[in-house]
Amino acid sequence: MEAEFNVNDYWLERGRDYMREQRTPPEFHRMQERFLLGVLQRSALPMRRVLEIGCGFGRVTRLLAEAWPEAEIMAVDLSPEQLANARRYCSDAPRVRFAPYDFYSNEPLPGAGYDMALAVEVFLHHPPEAVVGLARRLADAACYVVNIDWSESWPWPTPEHVWVHDFAGLYAQAGLVCAAFPLPGKIEGKQQQLFVAGRTLPESVRQLENTLRPAAASAQAPAAADAWTQRLAMATDELRRLIPGQSRWILVDDAQWGRVRALSGYRIVPFLEKDGAWWGPPADDATAWEELQRLRRAGASHLVFAWPAFWWLQHYADFSERLRATFPCVLENNRLVVFALGS
Ligand SMILES: C[S@@+](CC[C@H](N)C(=O)[O-])C[C@H]1O[C@@H](n2cnc3c(N)ncnc32)[C@H](O)[C@@H]1O
Repeated sequence: MEAEFNVNDYWLERGRDYMREQRTPPEFHRMQERFLLGVLQRSALPMRRVLEIGCGFGRVTRLLAEAWPEAEIMAVDLSPEQLANARRYCSDAPRVRFAPYDFYSNEPLPGAGYDMALAVEVFLHHPPEAVVGLARRLADAACYVVNIDWSESWPWPTPEHVWVHDFAGLYAQAGLVCAAFPLPGKIEGKQQQLFVAGRTLPESVRQLENTLRPAAASAQAPAAADAWTQRLAMATDELRRLIPGQSRWILVDDAQWGRVRALSGYRIVPFLEKDGAWWGPPADDATAWEELQRLRRAGASHLVFAWPAFWWLQHYADFSERLRATFPCVLENNRLVVFALGS
């Protein structure tokens, strides 16, 4: 008879060589980390005392310690091997402490009065009743609970150590409200979201949720994979008719399109761009304009807004107005808005 799956045994076993594994592509984790820091900074949540649950080898712990050097961070994990890795990985961070902790145990959480309890890619590995119970306890220990997990139903069967939860529903069962922030790029068609939960949420969190929502709404399109593919095929066709092959042009798509084979003859520059990689949306209109000028001087011939990034044209209203006043808009429909930059 097959032994029943035990989630803690699974993680204790995996903790032994987790650091060497590369199940998730590193560039996805870099994007996730930038997104996490961006949302935490822009939502202005307090970060003086932070409890991190399931810290693993300290990937996120170290980022937090670098971004908030004054914060006291208590990071816990089930796996002794992972805690040893984390202590090494964060050895330069004097205000981080680590402790073994199994959240299935009846032991009290280490400490209370935290500003935030954070768990990245932890809740998705536990069944709903465990997450609800843990969320209740975390909300007693911290003002806000933040998690990042896969959160959009999978068309595939889930492995036994993965649960794709409805987090708004689980947090509601724990007596909490939450705001949701979809990450601006999927991995193998799978969507992660960042959730901020609390008994109440500050206006800054709701405002940020609204600001980021248009991008999120386009990023979601869960049942419409075919519609997405068709729309993308039409858009790439239009671009190939409009822009000469080999050109270098700028694509604003919030990293939603991924690598499109039909566009491989072009040199496509993401926007914002740093060292050839996508660098997230700009802080403000002026930054967007300066970056555009830099890329234009470097030879970009067109600026292309793909529909997942149409929210830019409203949100960065000054940038958008300046674009329309300066450059001819050579294509505009519900898939694309394209400006010819004249270079
Ligand atoms: C997918 S890893 C995520 C690690 C880290 N948060 C990151 O994003 O790099 C999940 C972590 O949760 C820890 N974990 C699993 N079950 C746990 C439990 N019952 N109590 C505490 N930590 C647990 C695992 O040991 C593992 O380090």
